[in-house]
Amino acid sequence: MNLAITGANSGVGNILLRHLAGRTDIQVVACVRSAGAAAALHAAPGISVRQVDYDDRDRLTAALQGAACVVHLAGILFESASSTYQTANVDATEAVVDACRKAGVPHIVLISVLGADPGSPNRFWRSKGRAERLVAESGLPATIIRTPILLGPGMAGARAVVHAASQRSVALLGGGRHSVRPLDVDDLSRAMAKLWMGEAIAYKGRRVALSIMNARVPITGTLVDLTHDGLLIDQDGAGQVAVSYSRLSGIDAA
Ligand SMILES: NC(=O)c1ccc[n+]([C@@H]2O[C@H](COP(=O)([O-])OP(=O)(O)OC[C@H]3O[C@@H](n4cnc5c(N)ncnc54)[C@H](OP(=O)(O)O)[C@@H]3O)[C@@H](O)[C@H]2O)c1
Repeated sequence: MNLAITGANSGVGNILLRHLAGRTDIQVVACVRSAGAAAALHAAPGISVRQVDYDDRDRLTAALQGAACVVHLAGILFESASSTYQTANVDATEAVVDACRKAGVPHIVLISVLGADPGSPNRFWRSKGRAERLVAESGLPATIIRTPILLGPGMAGARAVVHAASQRSVALLGGGRHSVRPLDVDDLSRAMAKLWMGEAIAYKGRRVALSIMNARVPITGTLVDLTHDGLLIDQDGAGQVAVSYSRLSGIDAA
């Protein structure tokens, strides 16, 4: 399976690449904006790096061509002198959706945030709400994952918490009544593996060929049912077999 990741040098991207590095069944195109980011990226067989410019649609489309799924991670939690919520969260998503459409990418995954809402007075939530709307209205099969603040090595949220905790006095969100339930970025990475479920729904009731990790021969049969753990396949009269998402590396019409 070919997977493209935008913002591959982000905190989430770095951890996702490490999770994918051991997989021989997934070829990754890791998209970054700068040569510096490309050089610093986790190198492994099966991971190729592409330098993209979100304003250069042709180049972006070429980078995403052939991907069975695009995981769109480019986006920010905090604005900086060089990136605003509008450019990073909205404009980049618009560019990626457009490139996915032109490249015929069959599935796009957006990492959004709890509270995302295009009408929110909070600028971050508003920008992620707009990004969600761009993806949802694109007509592309899409998965939007809303996460709380993510904690993990090198994550912006983790740095902000450490910084706040090191201050002599700390401003409490919502006067101390705002509760936050962070998510470990490793858990997010694992959850993305479950996206197979979303992909498989389109095949329910149809004959499929499932590629299985470390197996030379696919499992073929009719996709009877989907559960939270895996797929139930009727093997052409030879009985039913359950295939866990964690063993799955591809699904195609047979
Ligand atoms: N961190 C969280 O707690 C959290 C919570 C909810 C959702 N999310 C979402 O999860 C995704 C990854 O977050 P993260 O914290 O891992 O990100 P991050 O470490 O802050 O990395 C930001 C990424 O976005 C790229 N980027 C920045 N400005 C851009 C622009 N104007 N156009 C295109 N790309 C731009 C960066 O590329 P350069 O290095 O080239 O600048 C980098 O790849 C984002 O979409 C974020 O909104 C994060």
